[in-house]
Amino acid sequence: MIVVLDFGSQYNQLITRRIREMGVYSELHSHRLTAEEIKQMKPAGIILSGGPNSVYEEDSFRCDPEIFNMGVPVLGICYGMQLMVHHYGGNVEQADDREYGKAEISIRHEEGLFDRLPHEQIVWMSHSDKVIEAPDDFTVDAVSASCPVAAISHSQHPLYGVQFHPEVNHTTYGNDLLKNFIFHVCQAEANWSMENFIEMQSEKIRQQVGDRNVLCALSGGVDSSVVAALIHQAIGDQLTCVFVDHGLLRKHEADTVMDTFRDQFHMNVIKIDAKDRFLQKLAGVSDPEKKRKIIGNEFIYVFDEEASKLEHMDFLAQGTLYTDIIESGTETAQTIKSHHNVGGLPEHMKFDLIEPLNTLFKDEVRELGLQLGLPEDIVWRQPFPGPGLAIRVLGEVTEEKLAIVRESDAILRDEIAKAGLEKEIWQYFTVLPNIKSVGVMGDSRTYDHTIAIRAVTSVDGMTSDWARVPLEVLEKISNRMVNEVNQINRVVYDVTSKPPSTIEWE
Ligand code: XMP
Repeated sequence: MIVVLDFGSQYNQLITRRIREMGVYSELHSHRLTAEEIKQMKPAGIILSGGPNSVYEEDSFRCDPEIFNMGVPVLGICYGMQLMVHHYGGNVEQADDREYGKAEISIRHEEGLFDRLPHEQIVWMSHSDKVIEAPDDFTVDAVSASCPVAAISHSQHPLYGVQFHPEVNHTTYGNDLLKNFIFHVCQAEANWSMENFIEMQSEKIRQQVGDRNVLCALSGGVDSSVVAALIHQAIGDQLTCVFVDHGLLRKHEADTVMDTFRDQFHMNVIKIDAKDRFLQKLAGVSDPEKKRKIIGNEFIYVFDEEASKLEHMDFLAQGTLYTDIIESGTETAQTIKSHHNVGGLPEHMKFDLIEPLNTLFKDEVRELGLQLGLPEDIVWRQPFPGPGLAIRVLGEVTEEKLAIVRESDAILRDEIAKAGLEKEIWQYFTVLPNIKSVGVMGDSRTYDHTIAIRAVTSVDGMTSDWARVPLEVLEKISNRMVNEVNQINRVVYDVTSKPPSTIEWE
């Protein structure tokens, strides 16, 4: 197992996931763990994550310095490397400019991390401090135009550091670098798999639930579908699925959910029509976080009511993912958005929660879904946020605005499918930015809404790039939207990556 110590980087969980993808079990832990506690986990290696601090700040995150003397290989990434350098007496300085984005490094020493990798590589940098001088006994293994010390290694001990982020997809050979660390330096064994995960989780669910019953929030998205399938496999009829139609779903979505799970999978699914209730609660609310909280709370109230009608429902299953938890603010990572299934729970929860996916990333969940026998079209369904179209109508949500988003989204999905781009594009949807502009249609002036198309490529939603949808496909989409959807006279395409943007607009 590889222990990753969390110093607050937004990418910290990605490191854990990359390692698991290599078949090696990995856990993320607080940087406050002592060397003794880490020793008891018998790790093959330790990774120190990046983080927003500066090593010279007084209350910056530190680790137990004994970690460096344990004889266990250590890889410091970004802040993790700066911490190592600071500990060994090297020089870390604040850079004049934050270095953010792609950079090219040149390799000086092939052994260790860069074994059998090209001498010039594109990497992803995201830092304000940088190492100016490596400590004694360390060699500089790579440099870049703005980083005189982009990678280091100790001459006697298995200690390594990189200024860039190998865990991020934009670092071309990041995975190979991590593999060199995990398998060559740490000599870890690849013995962790999704079958093990299913076995472990099923046993855990059976133990937790005993002879009691579980209510599952089924939305038809991949997360809740996989949760339902996993729990169903573990406890069978003790599971009841509840599908809340909050009126914020995509076109035809509610029918599809019912057809799939009730008719094809013969699961016990209860559908609740709560559209009016949600819209009433959202009336007059334009703050995105408030909208999320209202929807999250309302969800729980609806379940609560349903549970009191059903007998003996003790647990609520949710498809919470690792990413949901990180972005709601872990101990060290900063809060970006509060995802509804974490942040919005009322204090008097009447259920215990079961969240069997909360250590997994999106692509791991897809793999799990396939292993559980779910059909490809559910497993590969694009992600859809819990608050639904409510966060794609910017500002106040009205039925009229929802209809514009719903209709334009249906056209977008149709054309993306026709162009055969469904799998290539990770997520694609339309957003109503609440901007009206002047247009001309059939010789008369219009003053109508603009619709924005958001289409991104990503692996896990943590980072993303805007999808290069062919211009002729965009042209068709745009034509259809202005012709077929009332109140749209302009279509724009969002060309920003995450970061600095997020995928959703709210
Ligand atoms: P952002 O906008 O944070 O989105 O870059 C990353 C991924 O998360 C989805 N998302 C949500 N999912 N509740 C959810 O269940 C939410 O409140 C929420 N907000 C964003 C988003 O669609 C994307 O896939």
